[in-house]
Amino acid sequence: MNSDFPEDFNVKSLLTETVNFARKTFDSDFSGHDFAHTFRVWRLAETIAQAEGADQLTVQLAALLHDVDDAKLVGGTVGQSTRAETFLREHSAPETLITEICRIISEVSFKGTDTKAPTTLEGKVVQDADRLDAIGAVGIGRAFAYGGSRKRAMYDPENPPKLGMNGEEYSKNQGSTVNHFYEKLLLLRDMMNTRTAREIADARHQFMEQFLDEFMAEWEGKR
Ligand code: ADP
Ligand code: NI
Repeated sequence: MNSDFPEDFNVKSLLTETVNFARKTFDSDFSGHDFAHTFRVWRLAETIAQAEGADQLTVQLAALLHDVDDAKLVGGTVGQSTRAETFLREHSAPETLITEICRIISEVSFKGTDTKAPTTLEGKVVQDADRLDAIGAVGIGRAFAYGGSRKRAMYDPENPPKLGMNGEEYSKNQGSTVNHFYEKLLLLRDMMNTRTAREIADARHQFMEQFLDEFMAEWEGKR
């Protein structure tokens, strides 16, 4: 263990309290940011960290806290991590760990063509885990749940997807949920940082392509 930790510091109890904090924060969310999302990102991040040799405590805490300051949830500026920082400080986490986790949180988001790869292995692992939960069967479900929560059309052939949006254009975009597949979800496989996540992404990506083929075939009500 890192020598910055106080002697009575209990890793297990910090993780348990972080799980409880995340559970409370996402209690009543219907935009795809429910606690089940955070739980899956945490599990996936642990698996990827194990395979890639990343630091487990940093990865798991960052995964559990990665969305507690999400602008869609709490307003405020994208990339700020006030709630996560306050929580960790109140639980006596060392400053070096707090800084590291806040950096990971600020680097995790998708921002169209302004997206950057995180600087540390731990950040890469958390970003991969978060992105894996946006694709595949659960990702499809989350996308339509999010679209519904914003009263967006499932599909609108009159308004095709906009490719190559920068961060600002991406965050203001109000297109259909099917557009979101072309604007983000189908791009994620090739943006995975780690080999472990890329393998999981391959299968999920194929499943989304199949889903879209079937969706288009059914759309006009002809069969
Ligand atoms: P994450 O929690 O993975 O960082 P976001 O905060 O960007 O992802 O979005 C949460 C969920 O909502 C994801 O599953 C994402 O695909 C979905 N989502 C975000 N924007 C849209 C959109 N414009 N249309 C449909 N789904 C969206
Ligand atoms: Ni997330």
